[in-house]
Amino acid sequence: MTRKNQIWGQLSDLAATAYKLSMKELNGEPQRDSKFSIDIEGIHFDFSRHLINQNILDTLVDLARASNIKEKALDMLEGKLVNKTESRSATHMTMRSDISGQNQKEKQQMFQFSEAIRNGELKSSSHQRFTDVINIGIGGSELGPKMVSEALKQYASGPKLHFLSNPDGEKIFSLLNSLQAKTTLVILSSKSFTTTETMTIAKIVSDWLAKELQINDVESSTHFFAITADKEKAISRGIPEKQILTLEESIGGRYSIWSSVGFPVCTSIGTKRFEEFIAGGKMMDDHFLQSEYQDNIPVLLALIGIWYNNFLGSQSYAVVPYLERLSPLIDFIQQLEMESNGKSISLDDLPVVTTTAPIVWGRAGTGSQHSFFQLLHQGKKLVPVDLIGVKNDALSHTELHKLLLASLAGQAEALANGQHDENVHLSNPGNKPSSILLLDELTPFNLGKLVALYENKTFSQAAIWNINPFDQWGVELGKRITKELFSGIKPKNRSGQLLIKKMGLEDF
Ligand code: F6P
Repeated sequence: MTRKNQIWGQLSDLAATAYKLSMKELNGEPQRDSKFSIDIEGIHFDFSRHLINQNILDTLVDLARASNIKEKALDMLEGKLVNKTESRSATHMTMRSDISGQNQKEKQQMFQFSEAIRNGELKSSSHQRFTDVINIGIGGSELGPKMVSEALKQYASGPKLHFLSNPDGEKIFSLLNSLQAKTTLVILSSKSFTTTETMTIAKIVSDWLAKELQINDVESSTHFFAITADKEKAISRGIPEKQILTLEESIGGRYSIWSSVGFPVCTSIGTKRFEEFIAGGKMMDDHFLQSEYQDNIPVLLALIGIWYNNFLGSQSYAVVPYLERLSPLIDFIQQLEMESNGKSISLDDLPVVTTTAPIVWGRAGTGSQHSFFQLLHQGKKLVPVDLIGVKNDALSHTELHKLLLASLAGQAEALANGQHDENVHLSNPGNKPSSILLLDELTPFNLGKLVALYENKTFSQAAIWNINPFDQWGVELGKRITKELFSGIKPKNRSGQLLIKKMGLEDF
């Protein structure tokens, strides 16, 4: 039996009696808070409110060691083909280290264009400064830039950003009707340059621009940029080569915010702030690669997730940021973890015998307290929660921010300790798990750390499950059938034929 299987068996045994643990008692232990919290510059991680005692923690750390997480991370950093099914390396982490060569060239090009747009050097066809930027992209070509620009809105000093991803006419036309075409820049962001939604929306927006500006080949005008790994496709669309920013195939969409996909963010917050964001990611990488597993925030967050997901039967976990402008972080983490680790075949091409990625969901506090927290407190399902807070918010007000922080703390305490009541309907059982991530303030540097933290957590869980976090073959079938139906090809099976008839899809 391998060491890893032995440890897995130990954890199964420990899980059988975990229900006897009391968070209230565990947190009564004098050393608990120091042993179950970690502080690195700008981030406090409190993992004391969990059904985990020292013995369980030590065994989980053994599992990390036996899964060779760091060795696998170094393989990735050295450019090995860790993305086996696509025969690719995964280079998002190198985008945060001292990059050189092609990556450096691409970053400098993005920076030059960003500053030229911000300082008015790069003007519109009517020789005006751009006031609005529309990013057309979906999945990793939207969620990263949207999350970072929203979280860092206090640093916004360039054109106003808008994100279009779904082929939803109301959303698209209400945006276009609100904009001045003559000062609007369009970024067509698609790593593959084939995503149907993105290309369809781009045509609509391009037609709008052409009509408003009375320019025929508007995609070769100064109003159009592309971000892609397939430069040839963008050139054949008529976008000038100098207005095509590229990223390597080895950067996965959901890991691409550090690359040219970050272009809209740079036009908004500037390249200095974007460099700070990258530096924060680098600092978290150093922490991840250099810290012992028991002192390693990404690894511990991964192990806590494994404990509930693989041993205590949780099916999901919730991300609850207590800052409205961190709401898009939930969508970002959802794609990052569920598209990376929603797999069932191992790196050895065998069915995975355990379960893998949990369902990731959530909503910002305090709204979530008035929607799903009832289930978290008194429901029958065990749902761990990541509570994310910011100690100092320059955009808020003392009284308001104090209430936000008190709410985060109040919920963590109520979930963990509960309260017995004679009336059984009023009793809160407690022992409901939560991790707390507390940032000093929401700066580019701290946000970079937070994003890299979840990336490295995702990687660590994949290493434990022995799966490939960098491919996403599961989404291809749906895309193919969609393309067939969109082009008028009849579905093969009866259920599909009945459905498109009900939809009147053939009448479009
Ligand atoms: O959802 C599948 C996916 O390929 C994601 O991995 C990716 O981020 C998204 O679609 C968009 O892909 P592209 O950037 O190639 O348009």
